[in-house]
Amino acid sequence: MPWTSFRYSLYAPFYDLLAWPLGAARRRAVAQAAIGPRDHVLIVGCGTGLDLAHIPPGCRVTATDLSVRMLGSMRRRARALGREVALHRLDAERLVFPGGAEEEGFDVVLVHLIAAVVPDGAACVGEAARVLKTGGTLSLFDIFRSGAHERPGLLLRTLNVPARIFFSDINRRAEDLTRGLPLTLLQDQPVAFGGLFRALAYRKHA
Ligand SMILES: C[S@@+](CC[C@H](N)C(=O)[O-])C[C@H]1O[C@@H](n2cnc3c(N)ncnc32)[C@H](O)[C@@H]1O
Repeated sequence: MPWTSFRYSLYAPFYDLLAWPLGAARRRAVAQAAIGPRDHVLIVGCGTGLDLAHIPPGCRVTATDLSVRMLGSMRRRARALGREVALHRLDAERLVFPGGAEEEGFDVVLVHLIAAVVPDGAACVGEAARVLKTGGTLSLFDIFRSGAHERPGLLLRTLNVPARIFFSDINRRAEDLTRGLPLTLLQDQPVAFGGLFRALAYRKHA
């Protein structure tokens, strides 16, 4: 965990440039979440806040990240956009918010480019689903492996060693991260790099 926090502190000044090729994909992912004009939106692992510009201005926004530098960038972006955002330094695998059955649940939770970064992607998505209101929408946008095989081949396993250290785990499957959760898949679109990156939207059911 300290390594992840440290490397994202290093990436923070360049992050917008690194994430630029995924701009159109991000727009599609947020559009797919169909955020309502007054929704309460949670951005998990918000980074520099690139999602913020696509969230309707009347929404209440809460954002979390582990990196203090990323939270600082998000704060500056919010100020520049004239938006109020409640920021929390939190581990995505252990959100402290109450469960979504309670009043405070979120209408929409964005889990963008973080489920393949954290050590336990299933715990991250499980927490996002927990804090979502019943009937709310979870947006999952990331690099996901497709295919029926539970175990990736040798080449993917080898490439994954440096990928996990510096970038993201390239061998996670969205199906594995959401298995057993009270989520109904609404949409699953390939959004970038020939389908390496996908945007999925789910509705939470009771
Ligand atoms: C690839 S960036 C994605 C940022 C943003 N969600 C986006 O779509 O551009 C991953 C972010 O997750 C944060 N992060 C990594 N591990 C985390 C954890 N365990 N809990 C919370 N945030 C974490 C990093 O600091 C970084 O801001």
